[in-house]
Amino acid sequence: MYRSHNCGELNASNINTEVTLAGWVQKSRDKGFMNWVDLRDRYGITQLIFDESRTDKTVFELAKTLGREFVIQVKGIVIEREAKNKNIPTGEIEILVSELTILNSALTPPFTIEDETDGGEDIRMKYRYLDIRRNPVKNSLLFRHKVAMEVRKYLSDLDFCEVETPYLIKSTPEGARDFVVPSRMNEGQFYALPQSPQTFKQLLMVGGMDKYFQIVKCFRDEDLRADRQPEFTQIDCEMAFVEQEDILNVFEGLTRHLLKEIKGVEVDKFPRITYDYAMKTYGNDKPDIRFGMKFGELNEFAQHKEFPVFNTAELVVGIAVPGAGNYTRKEIDGLIDWVKRPQVGASGMVYVKCNEDGTYKSSVDKFYDQDDLAKWAKATEANPGDMIFVLSGPANKTRAQLSALRMELATRLGLRNPEEFAPLWVVDFPLLELDEESGRYHAMHHPFTSPKPEDIALLETQPGNVRANAYDMVLNGNEIGGGSIRIHDKATQQLMFKYLGFTEDEAKAQFGFLMDAFQFGAPPHGGLAFGLDRLVAILGGQETIRDFIAFPKNNSGRDVMIDAPAAIDETQLKELHIKIDSL
Ligand code: AMO
Repeated sequence: MYRSHNCGELNASNINTEVTLAGWVQKSRDKGFMNWVDLRDRYGITQLIFDESRTDKTVFELAKTLGREFVIQVKGIVIEREAKNKNIPTGEIEILVSELTILNSALTPPFTIEDETDGGEDIRMKYRYLDIRRNPVKNSLLFRHKVAMEVRKYLSDLDFCEVETPYLIKSTPEGARDFVVPSRMNEGQFYALPQSPQTFKQLLMVGGMDKYFQIVKCFRDEDLRADRQPEFTQIDCEMAFVEQEDILNVFEGLTRHLLKEIKGVEVDKFPRITYDYAMKTYGNDKPDIRFGMKFGELNEFAQHKEFPVFNTAELVVGIAVPGAGNYTRKEIDGLIDWVKRPQVGASGMVYVKCNEDGTYKSSVDKFYDQDDLAKWAKATEANPGDMIFVLSGPANKTRAQLSALRMELATRLGLRNPEEFAPLWVVDFPLLELDEESGRYHAMHHPFTSPKPEDIALLETQPGNVRANAYDMVLNGNEIGGGSIRIHDKATQQLMFKYLGFTEDEAKAQFGFLMDAFQFGAPPHGGLAFGLDRLVAILGGQETIRDFIAFPKNNSGRDVMIDAPAAIDETQLKELHIKIDSL
């Protein structure tokens, strides 16, 4: 037996018990005649004491050779500590060691294994196994496990069945590039790693599985950001014989359950807003609704005056920033520079101070009188003491710019409290999205998404206005999940492929299996997938998903610990029928 207890569980009630512990040396304090060692494992830290007058001489001397991160096993008696530490559960006791075994020595770690470490991101990633010994990383992994367990419990209780789907598949078009795997046995052919199990879960519905879920790895070769990894995990779900309403209810239930069990938070409202409303009101299809600053459109009140910039703009739109009326000229200029940065891209910004006495002072007083500005204040729901910021230009771009400003100001004003949770559904997404470069429409969600029946007639004439039975779940300004009701008949699916620019042959080659399946009695079905990494990070009060993944990739898609990707040797290449010119 390596241990009778772990390093986090002994307390005053165990005094005089003989125990065996094993773990890592966190640190030692050698005072000559007395030597204290902090022993650490996953569960906590227990103090060991080696005392010249009470400890066997060889054990006492051996303890002096212990270095940081040595792996040891000790036997001893639990005794009361003289200097108690109220901050840790084991702080009232220590172990008077009688036997010490060094199970393994360790090199000095390249960074300190403490909550606050001196190791930078790169070095911690290279030695990720040491990073995982640190509480913040370890706790994030435990937290992730807890969320995954609650998901499994909740869905299993509702009769969902977890089914595994293959990783070596054929490419599914979901917007990102595929990672591909060459086939040795089929020269010149490649598998693709799934961007999601989308088509398989639909086939499971045709197979009669009725309620499916899977906590599953997905692979997308796309540019990385704080909330994106090339391999990430979905809670992928699908249900048969359901309408959109049924799906929204089930997964709203799951989200409420997680918030309650994991965070102890009861969500009161779970709003549903349309994509159009989200874009008009927040300039964004994943709005953070923990705070206001809703957009006020000002075209009606700002155009046809003498201000040429606004007169020629497609959209004039503003937000009222609470309590910002006292910003100094310098602060305002700073914000104007902020929106003019290339990442935001505004050409300028107009501001209106809403004075406490009900009057206004704006940067465009030359063109607008107090009555005009009062209308702006009404449209943006500004109160005395607020500041209104106004942007103008092409509608979509201007909305995106104001949305960026809204989020930035909310962060600066401390309105994005990570312990407050405001989930919502965004529904009625457009079915198609115009790709400006190619001038072609593609599926906004994916090609299996069902148009709203009442909009099908518009496909021919106004494809951009067709709405889909598609929805996203948004939490604190992040898209944590998305899904749709699917097309379940061959004719509509064929029509969709046609509108997406697939020839009949192309559609058959890529999706023949799905259209074939639809001819054998496909039930109406729909589903969604949550991004588990994102969900866990946000519940954990953060937006960077990397810390919640045991072995993540860096921003260049590399695993710096195992040094992947890497070249493979010539024999392997040959077997895979791959020729590289430079070889
Ligand atoms: P979608 O592409 O919207 O839908 O993905 C679902 C959710 O997965 C998360 N996500 C990611 N998380 C981390 N890194 C990434 N690179 C990444 N990409 C996506 C997001 C997103 O909301 N098959 C459909 C679902 C369906 O229709 O049922 C799908 O994959 O949180």
